[in-house]
Amino acid sequence: MGRNKIQIALLGIGALLVFASVTAHADSAQSNYTAFCAKCHGATGHGDGPGAAALSTKARDFADCAVMQKISDDTMFTVIKGGGAAAGLPADMPSWSNGLSDPEIHALVAYIHTFCKK
Ligand code: HEC
Repeated sequence: MGRNKIQIALLGIGALLVFASVTAHADSAQSNYTAFCAKCHGATGHGDGPGAAALSTKARDFADCAVMQKISDDTMFTVIKGGGAAAGLPADMPSWSNGLSDPEIHALVAYIHTFCKK
């Protein structure tokens, strides 16, 4: 194999690896959401998960764009990491600082934005 062919092959492998890590990232936000958040916030973000009925405060509808636009990513990060009480919200929203890493929480904030479809 000539030098150019080897370089092209390496480029191809590199592109594949980047693609794989980007998609793995999105998948893990979705699977974290399904595993930890959907029981209250609902699989489609409407705040209607099976655990929601037992809550004293109903979980917000993440698909309500007008409401969600007013909440900054920083606030969402604080609430997910520190729980509702960290941002003056009901303590029904648990803290995830022990279960999720900062990058995972950032990925969840981005994932929550996908529920608002305009
Ligand atoms: C035990 C039920 C429960 C679980 C599990 C839960 N939440 Fe919550 N969450 C709530 C409640 C109740 C609130 C407060 C009402 C609201 O803002 O929706 C809340 C609030 C939030 C908010 C704040 C919205 C705002 O107004 O600032 C975000 C963001 C959020 N949750 C994300 C998550 C994520 C991400 C997960 C999973 C890692 C999760 N929640 C798991 C019940 C839950």
